[in-house]
Amino acid sequence: LASIELDISKVEPGQCLSIKWRGKPLFVKHRTPADIELEAKTPLSSLRDPETPEQRTIKPEWLIVIGICTHLGCVPIANSGDWPGGFYCPCHGSHFDNVGRARKGPAPTNLVVPPYKFLTDNLLLVG
Ligand code: FES
Repeated sequence: LASIELDISKVEPGQCLSIKWRGKPLFVKHRTPADIELEAKTPLSSLRDPETPEQRTIKPEWLIVIGICTHLGCVPIANSGDWPGGFYCPCHGSHFDNVGRARKGPAPTNLVVPPYKFLTDNLLLVG
């Protein structure tokens, strides 16, 4: 199945939904106002793969990423690691922030944002 429709109405702020899409883990993270505010302040110059939160999200409160570490492909843990609301890969210790940007450890690039769009406020189409 190429595309998938997801009802995100039950994903509470702070929660990260994890599902399988095209054989890969897909994370749908509901960012909190604190998450959004925190990463709005991060200077791009401090990032190894500089992208703004606006480049990585359509709506700031929703982060949609492939749940595969960009180092060697393990599955990171949501809401874990040194960046609040971020992701931690236990294989070799990569940390990603709450918009999935690589911040520490060996991961060279940010978690990948797949093609997606909102069909309605609560319905997401990925792929
Ligand atoms: Fe994630 Fe190596 S695979 S840190």
